[in-house]
Amino acid sequence: MLDGRKVPAFGLGVYEMSGPQTRAAVAWALEAGYRHIDTAEWYENEAAVGDGVRDFLASSGVSRDDIFVTSKLMHNRGYDAALRDLRASLRRARLDYFDLYLLHAPSGGSAMRAELWRAMLDAKKAGLIKSAGVSNFSREATKHIEEIVARGDELPVVNQIDLHPFQRHLEYVESCRKHGILLEAWAPLARAMRFEHPVIETVAEKYSKTPAQIHLRWGLQHGFIVIPKSASRNRIIENSRVFDFELSADDMEQLDALDENLVTDWDITKLD
Ligand SMILES: NC(=O)c1ccc[n+]([C@@H]2O[C@H](COP(=O)([O-])OP(=O)(O)OC[C@H]3O[C@@H](n4cnc5c(N)ncnc54)[C@H](OP(=O)(O)O)[C@@H]3O)[C@@H](O)[C@H]2O)c1
Repeated sequence: MLDGRKVPAFGLGVYEMSGPQTRAAVAWALEAGYRHIDTAEWYENEAAVGDGVRDFLASSGVSRDDIFVTSKLMHNRGYDAALRDLRASLRRARLDYFDLYLLHAPSGGSAMRAELWRAMLDAKKAGLIKSAGVSNFSREATKHIEEIVARGDELPVVNQIDLHPFQRHLEYVESCRKHGILLEAWAPLARAMRFEHPVIETVAEKYSKTPAQIHLRWGLQHGFIVIPKSASRNRIIENSRVFDFELSADDMEQLDALDENLVTDWDITKLD
């Protein structure tokens, strides 16, 4: 990442999971080799993420330093509130720090974004977070990113946006890449909405892989960090088996051509 730290390119997302589901899923994922968990204040399961991480640490002997936990700021209410909310998230998770903390959304206007970004960088200096990033930063030519660049501030290490073969956000990807900002793909499975698409089915059959694995491999080969969500132990394991094959350039091209601007959750092009 731009700040010299490393982020595992593959992780578990825990959106729309209850506390008990999250605790179990986090432990299963870590047992299956995942080392990166993506939560948020919004998901109301930061406490369960912390519990799942601790369950695994206790049973495995793996160290906290080897696990990468991300959370996100929910409310854009200003500098003091941001630091208060971050401390509350850490207390809920019973963690000393988050490896990555994101502004969940760019809402609130330019002055608010500048203030929140200052809070993020100060949180990093104070050791509450190791790395600072953003999510859903968008608008024409990523105006949201460009205003950070224009201020000369330290840049976010990642921008987490929806990315999958049916939603490529090419303009945002290119403008992040230009500045060395990594792309993190939310909804990397397109929420399982296109698993029966004929191209996905044909490519899956060719590599003897599942539609989910094809989506994830496509994201990884584009250099995205992918954080598929599953509450099922079998699917958590299935999703992690994406490092033993490579999609050919022709198949990547076929998958690239599926882009239809599919919106699976919120439409990030409409955020102010
Ligand atoms: N920054 C943001 O604004 C934002 C927005 C959305 C998401 N996110 C993050 O990104 C993560 C992933 O995105 P997402 O949860 O929206 O969607 P996703 O990972 O694309 O898809 C999750 C859906 O796919 C199903 N699924 C998972 N693996 C499967 C498999 N192998 N076969 C069949 N179905 C499978 C899951 O069901 P089961 O659970 O039943 O397996 C769930 O319904 C989130 O959990 C969250 O951490 C961030």
